[in-house]
Amino acid sequence: MEAQAKRKVMLSGIQPSGDLHLGNYLGAIQNWRDRAEEFDCYYFMADLHTITVRQTPADLRRRTLEQLAQYIACGLDPERNTLFIQSHVPQHAQLGWVLNCFTMFGELSRMTQFKDKSAKHGDNVNGGLFTYPALMAADILLYQPDYVPVGEDQKQHVELTRNIVQRFNGIYGEVFRMPEPYIPKAGARIMGLTAPDSKMSKSAPEGCVFLMERPEDIQRKFKRAVTDSDTERCVRYDPAAKPGVSNLMNIYSAVTGKDYAQIEREFDGQGYGAFKPAVGDAVIEALRPIREEAERILKDKAYLEQVYRTGAQRAGYVADKTLCKVYRKVGFVAL
Ligand code: TRP
Repeated sequence: MEAQAKRKVMLSGIQPSGDLHLGNYLGAIQNWRDRAEEFDCYYFMADLHTITVRQTPADLRRRTLEQLAQYIACGLDPERNTLFIQSHVPQHAQLGWVLNCFTMFGELSRMTQFKDKSAKHGDNVNGGLFTYPALMAADILLYQPDYVPVGEDQKQHVELTRNIVQRFNGIYGEVFRMPEPYIPKAGARIMGLTAPDSKMSKSAPEGCVFLMERPEDIQRKFKRAVTDSDTERCVRYDPAAKPGVSNLMNIYSAVTGKDYAQIEREFDGQGYGAFKPAVGDAVIEALRPIREEAERILKDKAYLEQVYRTGAQRAGYVADKTLCKVYRKVGFVAL
């Protein structure tokens, strides 16, 4: 018990607003999987966050369960990680409200994700979109994590969470542990296949390889991947001069375990024409067991339900301890 209590805590979430893709897997989930020994890990489907943008109810429900099945298929063992659905743990919304009252209008106005999303969805700039970072802070702080693994784009929200901790603890004492963003090192940032200057994203589907995609579609995307217009046309790692090829090398390295020097040797004297389908094949083989396992799990509704029920129970237990403490500190009458 004592030893367990000392384990560091890690937490992260992904919104089930789109299908998981290779960037999520190589950039996030794979790293999460490898942390299960070392940390107490909490991973959740951030469904509360998705409705800041309109969703089709049936799609949201389906994608939430698919995402859970895919987490497990990617190697996140539900016995060793707490996997749960955010809306199953009401303390997120409850602490979210409290933290809204400790987050400043000016801070929220400076969030780049808010600026981007409100520009993109100009007809639906709702309050939830604006206060989203306070809910995200609640997601994090309920579990008192040491580390929050996030991509670059979410770093600003973790920084804001840290400001909230400072403000809240400054008034009420040491209630929240100060979380650190945990930005995975190289190999993690997978760029789009059609535009290697921006992160792989579902909003550019031709440059994005989804975990559940059919092999022939994956291969087509790799064959059409943008390579670079430099004249040497050889496989060499140089992200500045050759962002397209370097991204493909990064992907190839991540799925095969080969380093860049090995890859350069392997394709020495061959052009991009041989390299691109080889990357496609390697990705297809890496994703095949994940896809098959996810499909199998998805059919087992009883198992999935047992996983998210257990997850909600475990998460809820920890979350409630934090929430009760917060309620007491701010002066609410205990029931
Ligand atoms: N905001 C994150 C995203 O859009 C998802 C998220 C919600 C999250 N709550 C979180 C990530 C808490 C880490 C920790 O990708």
